[in-house]
Amino acid sequence: MKGIFGVQIFNLDEVDSTNNFAAKLISDQLCQNGAVIMSDYQTLGKGQRGNHWISNKRENIMMSVVYQPDNMSVSEQITLTWGTSLAVVELLTEFGISAQVKWPNDIYVNRKKIAGVLIENQLMGKRVSFSIIGIGLNVNQLEFGLTNATSIALEKNKIQIIEEVRNTLLAKMNDLLFKDFIFLKQKYESLLFLKDHESEFEDEQGVFKGKIKGVTDEGLLIILKENRLKNYGIKQLTFRTEP
Ligand code: BTN
Repeated sequence: MKGIFGVQIFNLDEVDSTNNFAAKLISDQLCQNGAVIMSDYQTLGKGQRGNHWISNKRENIMMSVVYQPDNMSVSEQITLTWGTSLAVVELLTEFGISAQVKWPNDIYVNRKKIAGVLIENQLMGKRVSFSIIGIGLNVNQLEFGLTNATSIALEKNKIQIIEEVRNTLLAKMNDLLFKDFIFLKQKYESLLFLKDHESEFEDEQGVFKGKIKGVTDEGLLIILKENRLKNYGIKQLTFRTEP
């Protein structure tokens, strides 16, 4: 493996959350920079906005990557979101699947969710001391009940070898997380779901039609609403046009 991500791999049968396990390894100083924690199953998988991440046993990737950046300012931490989202998209491209990013970091294929990212950063003053990059990627799960989701196996009609997918993902992370700010921002914006399409959203003033134009340097979503550009944080906006 070229690069730091994957220098050390912890393979667990079951854990509450790989992100929590990673946090414990960091506080106990038991892992290296770039360590990866994989689990066959999570009893309390965490999603964004306090949601649960539910994933079948041994069918998917549930993984956290520990990253101790050299000298990353708090204002640069958004590049971790951009780089990780792009790594998942590029991994999927390599498997012949075309994907997009639903802001801020959900990965969609044919209007169905295939992966989610939960990044938990530890800050020291104005620097990022540790980042725990959690990725849930549907690989071999074939049934999702009523959830609007898909997997690599469903898209390709072929069961995959999880280690192979994981290694490709780590290789992409080893490349993309070290790209510069402007490159990552532009690439990320080019892959935004609904960009430049008139769509329906809801903010504190109610439902409105608007167009996603890009993101700010802080990662806020820029929407053209009634001929004016408005910036939104995660809690300030709901997508009404669903994938
Ligand atoms: C989301 O889309 O809401 C984010 C989901 C992130 C899930 C992954 S699975 C591995 C890691 N451990 C967790 O508890 N969550 C992340």
